[in-house]
Amino acid sequence: MNNKSSNEEKKAVSRRSFLKGAGVTTASTVAMSAGLLSFKAPETAPKRPPVLGPGDTEVRLEVNGQQESVWVEPRTTLAEALRDHLHLTGTKVVCDRGSCSACTVWLNDKPVCSCMTLAVDAEGSKVTTVEGLADGDTLHPVQEAFIEYDAAMCGYCTPGMVMSCAGLLKRNANPNLDDVKAATSGNLCRCGTYPKVFEATLAAAKKM
Ligand code: FES
Ligand code: FES
Repeated sequence: MNNKSSNEEKKAVSRRSFLKGAGVTTASTVAMSAGLLSFKAPETAPKRPPVLGPGDTEVRLEVNGQQESVWVEPRTTLAEALRDHLHLTGTKVVCDRGSCSACTVWLNDKPVCSCMTLAVDAEGSKVTTVEGLADGDTLHPVQEAFIEYDAAMCGYCTPGMVMSCAGLLKRNANPNLDDVKAATSGNLCRCGTYPKVFEATLAAAKKM
């Protein structure tokens, strides 16, 4: 067999294998459309979340110990649901983009930025706002210490600061200065009350 005929044979073989493969694919397509074969999604395929909206959807929350239900568009943030629908305006919205922590609330006892949390994602959760910290007329020790140590100036950052500091004391009863600095590292205060906030939080920890 000379080189020319060997090359031609190789070409013929590859054309044959291609046509064979195409035939199998075509046969499978015909069989699938006739319902003879069925496509089975892999069992590990992730479940898609239910599609919500575009209209209002119900969100149920436990807010400061009360069962609440709000009807909001899926794009509504937790901060908006709390302020505009439940009228809990103690939570402040300053940057509305996750960079100042003024809007800090506890979601299932963990501090989160409520402007970065969708209300629908908080469905069924326990939410604590600054209004829920006091026990009736008795302020939370962190709130008392903020007053005693004069830790607020304009007050815009204060509810978020209080929630971050009280959140720290909930998980660490005996924090040091570095712990307080770390817990409030996301809380921006344009008035520069940080030293007073740190003092107040350490004093509250001692009291508690
Ligand atoms: S208002 Fe939410 S982080 Fe600034
Ligand atoms: S007290 Fe004014 S921003 Fe903190």
